[in-house]
Amino acid sequence: MKFFIDTANLDQIKEAQDLGVLDGVTTNPSLMAKEGITGKENIINHYKKICEIVTGDISAEVISTDYDGILKEGQELAKLHDQIIVKVPMIKDGVKAIKYFSDNGIKTNCTLVFSAGQALLAAKAGATYVSPFIGRLDDISTDGLNLIAEIRLIYDNYGFDTQILAASVRHTMHVIDCAKIGADVMTGPLSSIEGLLRHPLTDIGLEKFLADYKKGN
Ligand code: E4P
Repeated sequence: MKFFIDTANLDQIKEAQDLGVLDGVTTNPSLMAKEGITGKENIINHYKKICEIVTGDISAEVISTDYDGILKEGQELAKLHDQIIVKVPMIKDGVKAIKYFSDNGIKTNCTLVFSAGQALLAAKAGATYVSPFIGRLDDISTDGLNLIAEIRLIYDNYGFDTQILAASVRHTMHVIDCAKIGADVMTGPLSSIEGLLRHPLTDIGLEKFLADYKKGN
């Protein structure tokens, strides 16, 4: 299972990269705005900085919603670095653009996916990744993890290569549940990754080992 960090915060990206388990980064316009990164030039420069920190795939989202605009923007983003994955929304022109990108060797992440039907369409269009938003489904009393399971079943039925990127992960149990279901990737905040580290018995056990070592020295 690949671990992506879902932020545009460079310190957190560095921290996750230093842990040695980071496989990539996802961003979106809201995450950029949260870090005060606005305007095309600043956003492009920020992607370049992220590429310098991380060795894996970095999703860069288009803001155009028409076919020609998505193609132009996606091609510009893809040229920035070979790590860039063009993130395209699940809309009609987005699906057409994903098919074009797929036919022309540009990797994509189909975002804002909330149903199995949308995920099937993204795979048919040749998306590299599909991003079902599990946290946002949970927010409206719909089981986000169930969507991951549905997509896993459908993709396995037909051997689709599209990777399931569980997005809108909010906490560590989401990460573990996605791993049980067989999501290919999860993207979440640094806290969702660091939560995997913690167990009180580890802390108690380590304290005892160190105390016993000191007794004998
Ligand atoms: C990542 O690709 C998504 O944009 C992100 O996970 C959305 O997360 P949120 O629902 O917490 O905003």
